[in-house]
Amino acid sequence: MIIHIASDHAALSLKLEIIRFLKDKGIEVVDHGPEASCSVDYPDYAEKLCRELLNDNSCRGILLCGSGLGMSIAANRYRGIRAALCHDVTLARLSREHNDSNVLVLGGRMTGTDLALEIVNVWLETKFSEIDRHSRRIQKLDKIK
Ligand code: RB5
Repeated sequence: MIIHIASDHAALSLKLEIIRFLKDKGIEVVDHGPEASCSVDYPDYAEKLCRELLNDNSCRGILLCGSGLGMSIAANRYRGIRAALCHDVTLARLSREHNDSNVLVLGGRMTGTDLALEIVNVWLETKFSEIDRHSRRIQKLDKIK
């Protein structure tokens, strides 16, 4: 599975740590920027990543900004994107089991590197439960106008 990743300036250093972690695990990573720490607007980077994921639903994505809030608000505007802002490993696990989250969102100013890498690991390893009630609820999300 390819992981797409993007951030804004506020989470650039955490993004680089996560890219290194993923590559060390042998996972292919596509970085949608930014490359430098000058100030950028998170909706632009959320858009790049979400459009890429919607073209290939075998991929998943990781978005990061300072709080994680802006990226999660932006990403969830794209139908078919289920972005989960996770502050702990329980949320990461539940977001996969119950919500089939296809984007993990982290706050670079909220979550330290060690915890962020644990969250990423759990999110990657956890499968969607495929239980009927969860599938039905996800299908309803895509009908929201
Ligand atoms: C940038 O200062 C900050 O507002 C942004 O990274 C994010 O936290 C927005 O939700």
